[in-house]
Amino acid sequence: MRYEKSENCIQIAIMISGEGSNAENIIQYFETFLDANIACVITNNENAGVIPRIRRYKVPTYTTKWYKEIDQILTENNVHYIVLAGYLDKLPPNFCLKYKYKIINIHPSLLPRHGGKGMYGDNVHQNVKKYGDDKTGITIHFVNEEYDKGSIIFQKEIKVMEGDSWQTIKSNVHDLELKYYPKIIEKFIKGTYKSLYENE
Ligand code: GRF
Repeated sequence: MRYEKSENCIQIAIMISGEGSNAENIIQYFETFLDANIACVITNNENAGVIPRIRRYKVPTYTTKWYKEIDQILTENNVHYIVLAGYLDKLPPNFCLKYKYKIINIHPSLLPRHGGKGMYGDNVHQNVKKYGDDKTGITIHFVNEEYDKGSIIFQKEIKVMEGDSWQTIKSNVHDLELKYYPKIIEKFIKGTYKSLYENE
């Protein structure tokens, strides 16, 4: 079934480089919303798993790594907010400035732990295991020109048990991502988190 979105609908873009389990989950979550819409998906990787994964949702999907082009796509699709879901590139400063407080990201650890350059995918969970952390989780944060350094919007933690493998840790964190990211995106676009950055 196709839902008719309202005229003044909030338009969201998802930027992604990889498999897209989060992207698909977000698309599904917003499918029934009349006042919010996933306007497009942009990937910088022509082999990204997300491309075949989301084909059936008929969300316009673009492949480019050029920010001038990305900016045009966002403008053409009247995008208000950008959601990163496994996007592996540093956004250039002028892009961050133009979309200040309009871009959010999810990171699969409790930032500032296990963040920064090279800290993505399995590396993050392997590090949690290596350092014997007794907790980990997810961080949803604004994006600025430094990796994983934008203000934190939301964190959720879970315990790491002594016998947990990094694969178990990864799977538990992934469950948190699927559970919370769409809900936090919803609050974010509705402005519920405004007070966090108003005083900066
Ligand atoms: C997630 O673990 C997310 O935290 C990180 O990139 C990963 C994307 O996974 N930013 P998927 O492509 O959604 O499966």
